[in-house]
Amino acid sequence: MKRTHKCREVTRDLIGKEISVSGWIHRRRDHGGVIFFDLRDEDGLVQVVYNPESKAMFSLAETCRNEYVIFSKGEVRERPEGTANDNLLTGQVEIIASDLEIINSSLPTPFQLDEYASVGEETRLKYRFLDLRRSEMQDNLRLRSKVSTALRSHLDKENFVEIETPLLTKATPEGARDYLVPSRTFPGQFFALPQSPQLFKQTLMASGFEKYFQFAKCFRDEDLRADRQPEFTQLDIEVSFADSEEVINLITEMIRRVFKETLSIDLGEFPKISYHEAIEKYGIDKPDLRNPLQLVEVKEIFKDCEFKVFSEPANDKDSRIAAMKVPNGKLLTRKQIDDYTDYVGTYGAKGLAYIRIDDPTKGREGLQSPIIKFIEDPILESLLSILEVKEGDIVFFGAGKNNIVNDSLAALRDLVAKDLDLLTCDWAPCWVVDFPMFEKNKNGDLTPLHHPFTAPNCSIEELIKDPLAALTDAYDVVLNGTELGGGSVRIHDKEMQQTVLNLLRISNDEAEEKFGFLISALQYGCPPHAGLAIGFDRMIMLMTGSESIRDVIAFPKTQTASCLLTEAPGEAALDQLEELHIRFHGLDKEE
Ligand code: AMO
Ligand code: AMP
Repeated sequence: MKRTHKCREVTRDLIGKEISVSGWIHRRRDHGGVIFFDLRDEDGLVQVVYNPESKAMFSLAETCRNEYVIFSKGEVRERPEGTANDNLLTGQVEIIASDLEIINSSLPTPFQLDEYASVGEETRLKYRFLDLRRSEMQDNLRLRSKVSTALRSHLDKENFVEIETPLLTKATPEGARDYLVPSRTFPGQFFALPQSPQLFKQTLMASGFEKYFQFAKCFRDEDLRADRQPEFTQLDIEVSFADSEEVINLITEMIRRVFKETLSIDLGEFPKISYHEAIEKYGIDKPDLRNPLQLVEVKEIFKDCEFKVFSEPANDKDSRIAAMKVPNGKLLTRKQIDDYTDYVGTYGAKGLAYIRIDDPTKGREGLQSPIIKFIEDPILESLLSILEVKEGDIVFFGAGKNNIVNDSLAALRDLVAKDLDLLTCDWAPCWVVDFPMFEKNKNGDLTPLHHPFTAPNCSIEELIKDPLAALTDAYDVVLNGTELGGGSVRIHDKEMQQTVLNLLRISNDEAEEKFGFLISALQYGCPPHAGLAIGFDRMIMLMTGSESIRDVIAFPKTQTASCLLTEAPGEAALDQLEELHIRFHGLDKEE
């Protein structure tokens, strides 16, 4: 019962030959006394024909259903005229079966593999073993494997060493909640699963490895979105004696090469944009540069305007007024503009002012807008001249606190580009650089934009004096509006590390307790070092054009961080809990 050929190998070359194949019945058709199977194996499809002359075999074929696993022997023959299928590699031929064996049957499947689009994702995840049989999922995971091989081989050529770091470890501060694992041998104590290998990779630099990489599993208990999973994979990289330029060049070359090798895509230049410029022009630090729309800061000209909606933010240091000119925006309907107003409302914007330019030669008369009646002539003139408006443009305005204007207009920018089909190319990578070291969170506390191991570009004294002014050599690589990866030059000096931690209200004692090993390593000849981590799943999501990160992970979790296939998380047996010294409070559990 051993097959002689894979399905895709059954082509004209084999005409007249006796061969055998094995696989799944992809589709079964009964055509007036003749039965056809499209037989599928991992990388091909071939048609097998069962004629009624051979009674026993034919009756067996009649009992077969989709997804049965079979073995069949037969002669390869050219398909009769008019029945060839040019879309199929094996579409010119068919196998006239002389033998059939059912290797395994299948229950009726909960969804047809070729009609999955109408199936809810829950069903696909519950029956993931069936979902993964679909060619789209097979292609995604095959590309994933090809890309990881290409990345490994590139890094190997560049003399990187692949080193694994522990999963049972201590908390790594990347800003999310930890997944904890109770220790049996130390009652009341817990391991944390790593949010990233950050502390270990820096320790490896102190250990004298100069170029490290790892495909690292990372765990973050955070709110999930289409491009986030609680358990995901990073391509984690660190280099000693390197500056940001070196890391950026290395990663640019690596990403370019892999896109070329695996997809024949030329990504071209990776322009660099400062964080400040990205926020000013796009309202976001991961701009989609396929989108030509930009924000223009017009705060200055509204300082003395009568219109309170604009003059108040114009005179507040934490606010901005941004204008987004949409060429040919006249194509947008009134209803769309109303919907946009509701949409920016979900980001906290109190409204969405706009001006439609019907005829720029006619002054006020040539404009349509709910706000121009509140705007004085000289202000209106300078506004239109700064924006260089043309007939048919619409200009949208966001006025208010920086974060609300940025978030709402960044989201609107994406939506308008989608609605008006404005994207100018398929791929637009870029580097965002010169991030501030800190920002203030809602409670007014400092938080790092990257993580507390990122080196500020200033002295300890300057950092203490004005932490919010400090910039860093941190860099994010962004592709089509998705943050693919991020990294930085690290602190390799104990005093600077403690200063940063102290500014984050982490005392020296607490730092010692949390990551004493790194602080210790910094004091024994730790070289300067820099690195980055690529979100590997996200990279594959973009490369395959998938809507969700779940489509490039074999066994992903749902939005609520559960696995529908294994039904994890699950309850633990009471004796297991006892061994771990864990007792439930407030849950309806019997002792
Ligand atoms: P950061 O937290 O930016 O940096 O993570 C690096 C990249 O990992 C991806 N990523 C995720 N992918 C899927 N699901 C998630 N929940 C998720 N979270 C992050 C993103 C991101 O750009 N230690 C630093 C790296 C460094 O400084 O070297 C770090 O982890 O694509
Ligand atoms: P109002 O005075 O609230 O009626 O608003 C007048 C116009 O300004 C309307 O078109 C609103 O959509 C718009 N608007 C109100 N608040 C803002 C804001 N914060 N940013 C931009 N436009 C706004």
